[in-house]
Amino acid sequence: MFEDLKPAPADKILALIGLYRADERPNKVDLGVGVYKDNAGKTPVMRAVREAEKRLLADQDSKSYLGLAGDTAFNEAMAKLVFGANADTTRIRAAQTPGGSGALRLVAELLKHARPDATVWVSDPTWVNHIAILRAAGLQVREYPYFDAETGTVRFDAMLAALKGAPAGDVILLHGCCHNPTGANLDASQWTAVAGLLVEKNLLPFIDIAYQGFGDGLDADAEGLRIVAAKVPEMVVAASCSKNFAVYRDRVGAAMVMTANAAQADIASSQMLAGARTLYSMPPDHGAAAVRMVLQDPALRADWQAELEEMRQRMLLLRQRFAEALRRQSNSDRFDFIAGHRGMFSRLGLTESQVQRLREEHAVYMVSDSRINVAGLPENGLEELAKAVVSVLD
Ligand SMILES: Cc1ncc(COP(=O)(O)O)c(C=O)c1O
Repeated sequence: MFEDLKPAPADKILALIGLYRADERPNKVDLGVGVYKDNAGKTPVMRAVREAEKRLLADQDSKSYLGLAGDTAFNEAMAKLVFGANADTTRIRAAQTPGGSGALRLVAELLKHARPDATVWVSDPTWVNHIAILRAAGLQVREYPYFDAETGTVRFDAMLAALKGAPAGDVILLHGCCHNPTGANLDASQWTAVAGLLVEKNLLPFIDIAYQGFGDGLDADAEGLRIVAAKVPEMVVAASCSKNFAVYRDRVGAAMVMTANAAQADIASSQMLAGARTLYSMPPDHGAAAVRMVLQDPALRADWQAELEEMRQRMLLLRQRFAEALRRQSNSDRFDFIAGHRGMFSRLGLTESQVQRLREEHAVYMVSDSRINVAGLPENGLEELAKAVVSVLD
């Protein structure tokens, strides 16, 4: 059975973690892994989540099955978090999923079922797992231009031109905020233009929102998604709580579908849940129950928002200070875009060999496409880091 099996290709980030761990240089810097870290390099459990977990432990009196959609109150709270507290959710259905990845896969299954020939257009570049997940569900994938590595900005005209050429009925995957891996995002007027085009060309928006609250704030980060939702008749969404509730390993996310009317929403939801049944049946409860408690309890929610805001502000400050250090060290504005990017990542625009030199000569670790995790920037070592980056430029 297994004698001819070839190993799966090594995961680049896991390989990087291995190299980092084995590096004995005391000043090593890890900008690779995609989790939020505080200044001590820790990824703490958030206060409100810890409190909710205590209450769960004390009060939970059954672990019986909940159903294919998981915790329905969690689903309602997530729809409001994403679409807005006052959003009309009568045409929206949400299903709790194992993380944002589970949500992406569940939406992909729904798309495959609704339109087996659909092509999903993804940004160039996008999170690598997008392409893998979509293909695993049997969907075709194409790319639209997105990032200009020279300037660190969005190639908006090229993006619009590509979307204009997409056949009606195709699906357009957009990062709701905090684009991974580039950090470059659409502004509100660009979102409005994209929304108009989606309606005009009859394209289905598929919005992945995995970092809500990490960019400009909880509501600001959902602004683009809400601009689209106000214009289009139908859309699909994959949301993740891994980052903004720091519940990475608990696997908490939600798949959402918005249709033309409530009856269609019920049908789409039933198909999504049928997909869940064959993939994993029911989602894990613990993390979603804790998130639901945080979202429902005003005091816990306020504390969560305050802690999330601290994390966001820390990343923003690091962006500004790193961009300033690079400006000083390079005597140029080449890296100013880092301060304008949002979220946990920025792509620096270095070549693979420059990234390798940073690792070998300076113990600075980043993904080979030069994506850095801003939360991993050393508060007290920015000048030295900037000097290292500039030293490999030529
Ligand atoms: C763009 C994007 N979407 C979705 C996810 C899904 O994350 P998870 O499955 O851990 O919730 C990630 C995680 O890195 C991501 O970067």
